[in-house]
Amino acid sequence: MVKDFMLVRLVSVLLMLFAGSASAKAQQTASLKEAFKNDFLIGTALNMWQVRHGSEQTKELIRSQFSTVVAENCMKSEVLQPVENVFNFKDADEFISLAENNGQVVTGHCLVWHSQAPAWFFHNDKGVLVDRQTMIERMRKHIYTVMGHFKGRVKGWDVVNEAIEFDGSLRKSNFYNIIGEDYIRLAFQFAHEADPDAELYYNDYSMDNPNKREAVVKLIRDLKAHGLRIDAVGMQSHLSTTSNLKEYEESMEAFIKEGVKVMATELDVSVLPFPNHQMTAEISTNFEYQEALNPYKKGITEEKQAEQNDFMVKLFKIYKKHAKDITRITFWGVTDGDSWKNDFPVPGRTDYPLPFGRDLKPKPWVYLIIK
Ligand code: XIL
Repeated sequence: MVKDFMLVRLVSVLLMLFAGSASAKAQQTASLKEAFKNDFLIGTALNMWQVRHGSEQTKELIRSQFSTVVAENCMKSEVLQPVENVFNFKDADEFISLAENNGQVVTGHCLVWHSQAPAWFFHNDKGVLVDRQTMIERMRKHIYTVMGHFKGRVKGWDVVNEAIEFDGSLRKSNFYNIIGEDYIRLAFQFAHEADPDAELYYNDYSMDNPNKREAVVKLIRDLKAHGLRIDAVGMQSHLSTTSNLKEYEESMEAFIKEGVKVMATELDVSVLPFPNHQMTAEISTNFEYQEALNPYKKGITEEKQAEQNDFMVKLFKIYKKHAKDITRITFWGVTDGDSWKNDFPVPGRTDYPLPFGRDLKPKPWVYLIIK
């Protein structure tokens, strides 16, 4: 009896060891950065929790899967300059040290963005919007100080983020309202002055939208006509399994035709229903929670997973096809549990938009795109 029991224990321990090493091996062999090393960099956004408190397993995943990283939040202006002339580089320095230890390329996100900017940036001490000259000086100072601090450690910067509306017009942000439409040129000029070696990017969401496509093409031409540097367009790529890949690829081709590189900078592919007709990454949008909008809280169905697998394979075929003009594909997070999509645009949902599950295991499509 006891002997039988011991035998069963031994066999099950051996099986567990075998399964463990097989899955560890599968994880090791299925490396995104290795698979695409001749095509483009493969990246992820990191938050400070992962940087400071990530488990060894999480850190190993970050190290082994990604050749490049970007800060999810800690390099935005509200963090870097919370009070005028008081710069806080603590989090960002720690984030970059981790990347450097991992031998990963760092992208700076982002210099000029109306969102996650501190209120003081646009106002005087009476709470009134500042004048054009003051705004230009504040923008210059922010860009110079931030890029100066990270010089040599950051390969390229999202200089301007989300400046274009769905109708193709320039967003009436405080930068636009105070400075005028030349704020974009000024930002790219200051960025190049601050670090002539850094690559400079324009970054935006919903780039499959034809109006936005046209406006970005116009913007690239305008910068170039003024002798300014722009290296690449960042297509954020907050997508869903129903996104229009034809329009997406058309935008990619239109930007490439203008002589810049393209990058997917914030890729995630939601499987959840939209609360309205328009898929957007406009971070000021939010909708009330409803059960009907959260169908997979106990797990994704096989059908839905298959739909996502299919979409990811199609998407990566497009990336492969244009690989010589694509420099980087960055996911907006590592595991589904990290994703901002769980709370955007509806709080408290369970989404599955990233390459690794909440259990740190690769999604079925990770193997498919590697193959
Ligand atoms: C998001 C972060 O993921 C969230 O943690 C934060 O609360 C809001 O911003 N476009 C961008 C990113 O350029 O910086 C945004 O990141 C997502 C949309």
